[in-house]
Amino acid sequence: MAQVLVTRTYLPELAEYTALLEGIWQRGQVTNNGALVQELEGSLAPYHGTEQVLFAGNGTIALQLALRALDITGEVITTPYSYVASTTTILWEHCTPVHVDIDPVSFCLDPARIEAAITPRTQAILATHVYGLPCDVDAIADIAQRHGLKVIYDGAHAFGTTFRGRPLLSYGDISTCSFHATKIFHTVEGGSMACHDEETHRKLRLLRAFGHIKDDHFLAGINGKNSELHAAMGVVMLRHMPAILERRKAQWARYAEVLDGSGVQLARVPAGTDFNHAYFPVIMPTEAALHALLAELAKEDIHPRRYFFPSLTELPYLSAAGTCPVAEDIARRALCLPLYHVLENGTIDHIAARVRAHAR
Ligand SMILES: Cc1ncc(COP(=O)(O)O)c(C=O)c1O
Repeated sequence: MAQVLVTRTYLPELAEYTALLEGIWQRGQVTNNGALVQELEGSLAPYHGTEQVLFAGNGTIALQLALRALDITGEVITTPYSYVASTTTILWEHCTPVHVDIDPVSFCLDPARIEAAITPRTQAILATHVYGLPCDVDAIADIAQRHGLKVIYDGAHAFGTTFRGRPLLSYGDISTCSFHATKIFHTVEGGSMACHDEETHRKLRLLRAFGHIKDDHFLAGINGKNSELHAAMGVVMLRHMPAILERRKAQWARYAEVLDGSGVQLARVPAGTDFNHAYFPVIMPTEAALHALLAELAKEDIHPRRYFFPSLTELPYLSAAGTCPVAEDIARRALCLPLYHVLENGTIDHIAARVRAHAR
């Protein structure tokens, strides 16, 4: 069996990509809001539920720009169960991350615990739609409204998921996405920011490009742009998204079928969610079972990943992170199984059988 990693980048036929490169060469414009960036932003609108979508250099800078655009300078309530970037971006913006524990079923920030963490310095909630499944967006919106807080969703995994008929990337004051090569939709490196009002859109756009338009300087911005070559990959990828989403749905169902009744905790898809099947997480009964499974699969050159480990409360450079026992426990037992378009059914069955064997 060939090496099996947790994911594999979807690469379209080279000719499809080079056809767009020819246009770039003809126009001679390779960056700075070129034709393909504009085309991509237009095509991304239905996936974000708003016309106010901006293509960014990556999902990390998108989060930083979101915090900046909303003038967040104080405490940000956030999840300890996410990729490290959702906490480090808060630190890079000189804000204070305040970790609130997660719900053990949804793996997302537990709204029932948010209010106890609000202080006079709290300005925002930054929550991740973990594995592409929705946070409790109603409860979070309600808390935010009652306490005058902004809501930023880290939707790095959420591309293609809809909740109650709306793209998941349309919730919150700003929603960001990652288009990294490991993601379900990618532009090699890239990301997006989506918002719903002209002022925030204008600010994000300015901040993304050094804060000036020609010789008029408005804000201290940064370089958060992306190029025509990256946009070209996105334009091509969008053509394949329906097939990619279909394929993953079938693969996900296959894992779920084999693992049904095995005793490992699987992700639960909330009612009203049309899920993108971006990841297939399993929560092993113990950390020892996880290590035993990893060791056995490694011998066969199969490599699931510990998404997300450690809990972000356990980052060595966070001095006063507090503790979030649910996230810390889940983080020790969670694995994402390999899932990508060319993963064969036989391999899925094989991996699922191995997981089953370690489930008790
Ligand atoms: C939850 C989450 N947030 C943020 C990021 C950062 O995105 P990027 O790698 O595009 O900077 C990632 C992905 O790597 C992620 O998984």
